[in-house]
Amino acid sequence: MSLKGKSIIITGAGMGLGLATAEEVAKQGGKLTLVDYNEEALNEAKKSITEKYADAEVLTVVADVSNEEAVKNYVNKAKETYGRIDGFYNNAGIEGRQAPLTEYDLGVFKKVVDINLMGVYYGMRYIIPIMQEQKYGRIVNVASVGGIRGVMNQTAYVATKHAVSGMTKNAALEYGKDGITTNAIAPGAILTPMVAEAFKQVNPDDPKAAEAEYASQNPTKRLGLPNEVASVVTFLLSEGAGYVSGQTIAIDGGQSNSYGNV
Ligand SMILES: NC(=O)c1ccc[n+]([C@@H]2O[C@H](COP(=O)([O-])OP(=O)(O)OC[C@H]3O[C@@H](n4cnc5c(N)ncnc54)[C@H](O)[C@@H]3O)[C@@H](O)[C@H]2O)c1
Repeated sequence: MSLKGKSIIITGAGMGLGLATAEEVAKQGGKLTLVDYNEEALNEAKKSITEKYADAEVLTVVADVSNEEAVKNYVNKAKETYGRIDGFYNNAGIEGRQAPLTEYDLGVFKKVVDINLMGVYYGMRYIIPIMQEQKYGRIVNVASVGGIRGVMNQTAYVATKHAVSGMTKNAALEYGKDGITTNAIAPGAILTPMVAEAFKQVNPDDPKAAEAEYASQNPTKRLGLPNEVASVVTFLLSEGAGYVSGQTIAIDGGQSNSYGNV
C-alpha cells in the first residue's frame, strides 16, 4: 500500500472523493499534484493536508479538465516539479441534472460529456506517454455504478460513466506492455457534496428522506464514506496492485449485485 516517494496526480481534488484520496496518499508518503477548477476549494484542500501531514509535498494547479490546454498544463507542471508521474487518479466529474432522456437539457448533456468523458480521456492521453517512458504507471479512473447499469433520469451521467469503463479496458489492453495498469472504480452512493446535491434534486422538500430511502436499498443499510473509497484507490495506485488491470471495481456495499430485493 505504500506510496512513499510516488508522484500522484489527483483531479477534482478540492472536495469529496478526490480530497479523501489526497489525504490518504499524503499519509502513505506520496507527492501530490492536486487539480481542480475551484481555486478556493483547492487552496483549502492543500491547507488541510499540510496541517495534518507537515512533511507532505503538495502542488496545486487550477484547471478545468474539459479544457485540453489546461490538462496539458497540469501534466507538465507535475512532471516539471517531481520529474515523473507514477499515479493518476482521474476523478473529476459532475452529475448533471436529473431528467428523463427525451427531456434532458442538451447544453447540460454536452457539458457532462465534456467533463466526464473528454476530461478523463485528455488526462490519459497526456499522462500515458510519460508513464510509457518510465515503464511504470498506475491509472485509476472514476466511473460509477452508473457505469455498470442504468440509473433513472441520469442518461448523460450513465452514458459517460459507461464510456469511462470502456476507455479503462482499452488503456489496459494497449499499455499493459509498458508497465501501466488502468482500472476504474464504480462507487455507489458515497456521502460527498455531489451526492448531497443529488438528494436535494430527488426530494427538494426533504433531502434527508431521499437519503434514508436510498440507504434502505443497500445491503449495508447505509451510504458509503469517502475514506472507504480512498483506501481502495490507494491500493490500486500502489506497486502491489501490478497485476490488476482493466477492471471496473464496484465500491457500493454490494448493492449492484441486487435485483432490488434487499
Ligand atoms: N459521491 C458518490 O457517491 C459518487 C458515486 C459514483 C461516482 N462518483 C464520481 O466520483 C467523482 C468525484 O465525485 P464527488 O462525489 O467527490 O463529487 P464532488 O462534487 O463532491 O467533488 C468533485 C470535485 O471535482 C471538481 N470538478 C468538477 N468538475 C471539474 C472540472 N471540469 N475540472 C476540474 N475539477 C472539477 C469540483 O470542483 C469538486 O472539487 C466524480 O467523477 C463522480 O461522478 C461519485
